[in-house]
Amino acid sequence: MTKLIAPSILAADFANLQRDIEMVNNSEADWFHIDIMDGVFVPNISFGMPDLQAISKHAKKTIDVHLMIVDPDRYITTFADLGADILTVHHEACTHLHRTIQAIKAAGMKAGVALNPHTPIAVLEDVIADLDLVCIMSVNPGFGGQSFIENTYKKIGQLKHLIEFSKSNCQIEIDGGVTDQNANALVEAGADVLVAGSFVFKSEDPTATISDLKKICN
Ligand code: DX5
Ligand code: ZN
Repeated sequence: MTKLIAPSILAADFANLQRDIEMVNNSEADWFHIDIMDGVFVPNISFGMPDLQAISKHAKKTIDVHLMIVDPDRYITTFADLGADILTVHHEACTHLHRTIQAIKAAGMKAGVALNPHTPIAVLEDVIADLDLVCIMSVNPGFGGQSFIENTYKKIGQLKHLIEFSKSNCQIEIDGGVTDQNANALVEAGADVLVAGSFVFKSEDPTATISDLKKICN
């Protein structure tokens, strides 16, 4: 299966958002990764509904929304209406995760669950069959530009094992600190989707950087 690259718009230039969206549209990237932060679940606030509405208007690829917010159930249908194709909630933010996953699917989106670096893969055992995506956080969520946590490799192996054992079709996404230095090792370990923020948008030629990442992975 082709490995996917998902540039994180958090690292884009917000004064030139349309330009950066068009860059992703015209690049070899596969998805738009959209980080929504509420300043409660994570110690940072990113952007919200009007911004996603503006992004959706121009984005021509899959919109992968990563919710770093408490009580995400409140906004599931809102994000569906705003154009999210995949909606990922944090395991640590959901009291009734099974219900939340069903609600995401009922709203017509693919369902993802993200795990913080301290959360073991085993917590997904009873929902893995229902999931389309698991996002393994390879940094503590809240900020772009942090360094990659090496323990992630071990978790990818464990998740791959769980997916195979349960015959789930779920994809493995890695989020945080992805660069050309670890991309190959991540896909070798079993990753399907690599999110990359700073490495893409802070580079001299983001289109070429996306193309390089895509080549490294495939
Ligand atoms: C972190 C976000 C990431 C972030 C990745 O909380 O979920 O998606 O944008 O940024 P980089 O690639 O710079 O680590
Ligand atoms: Zn993210």
